[in-house]
Amino acid sequence: MNQEDRVIMGQEQSSDTWQYSLRPRQLSEYIGQEQVKKNMSVFIKAAAERKEALDHVLLFGPPGLGKTTLANIIANELNVNIRITSGPAIERQGDLAAILTNLGDNDVLFIDEIHRLSKTVEEVLYSAMEDFALDIIIGKGPSARSVRLDLPRFTLIGATTRAGAIAAPLRDRFGVLCRLEFYQSHELKLIISRAAEILGVNIDQEGANEIARRSRGTPRVANRLLKRVRDFAQVFGSTEITREIAEEALGRLEVDNLGLDRSDRRILETIVKTFGGGPVGIETIAAAISEETDTLEDVYEPYLMQLGLLQRTPRGRMATSETYRYLNLPAPVKEK
Ligand SMILES: Nc1ncnc2c1ncn2[C@@H]1O[C@H](COP(=O)(O)OP(=O)(O)OP(=O)(O)O)[C@@H](O)[C@H]1O
Ligand SMILES: [Mg+2]
Repeated sequence: MNQEDRVIMGQEQSSDTWQYSLRPRQLSEYIGQEQVKKNMSVFIKAAAERKEALDHVLLFGPPGLGKTTLANIIANELNVNIRITSGPAIERQGDLAAILTNLGDNDVLFIDEIHRLSKTVEEVLYSAMEDFALDIIIGKGPSARSVRLDLPRFTLIGATTRAGAIAAPLRDRFGVLCRLEFYQSHELKLIISRAAEILGVNIDQEGANEIARRSRGTPRVANRLLKRVRDFAQVFGSTEITREIAEEALGRLEVDNLGLDRSDRRILETIVKTFGGGPVGIETIAAAISEETDTLEDVYEPYLMQLGLLQRTPRGRMATSETYRYLNLPAPVKEK
């Protein structure tokens, strides 16, 4: 299935420009992630009082949980500028040098998908993060010499969907590591109600509940489903999103009670029906359903695992008794 067609995709889509207006600007508007918020607000306050740059922050978690939003909020709360870029966008050492030398004191540099930085760029980043300096080689051959360039104190905020893909020397240079978790249903309900207000959509409690329950713990999905359900409500001639309307609309979008769609079910069915419940390697599953392994690992698996419908083992992926129940299939009798 074309990824752009999936309404429940955590990843950003080209039609997602609406989300900028829905993005909270302050920590107090940022719903959920209580532990992260509590700690961040202390670090932000301390840094602001000392008039120093905040320690480097690494944000990790599945797509759409609010990493970019949080980075913007941190800069906003610190009252400093933010410069936004991404791992694949910084191709050469010179690109990074240009960005770094243009930062102001205590500014935030946000690097999205930091796990995709090239090795050579990453090495330059090490000394920038640690010593706030760049060592640049000028000239070539025997006359080449190294010049040290001082940088302003800055805060690097790195975001990644895969903390495991970050080399230890890079990870160790972050003072603050924040893992974003899937959101609880009641938090998503608040996010949906807030978004509805901004968009001027009427939605009742139960309608918001219904969408929240099927949003896979992900604010971006919640906001997207809200917009689609609004379209249905309008066509149904209703001025308010109620539970009935949300149920009908989400049913037509093929998003089930747990927030899973056809692609999720295909993954589970493949493991169960084609590979006897596993263990089966991720590459094998990917090939069987013509999907990228990275997408499987970053986008589908985290939520399926959260629901207990999938298990990652050293020997491969396995179905659980929950998987069989979900697919309405009898669980296999274990061989002794
Ligand atoms: N805590 C939150 N409270 C309210 N809205 C939120 C929150 N977190 C995220 N959102 C909403 O979800 C949308 C997606 O968030 P964001 O772009 O920050 O995700 P992300 O983690 O950076 O995703 P990606 O990994 O794809 O870059 C935002 O536009 C915002 O409207
Ligand atoms: Mg982002």
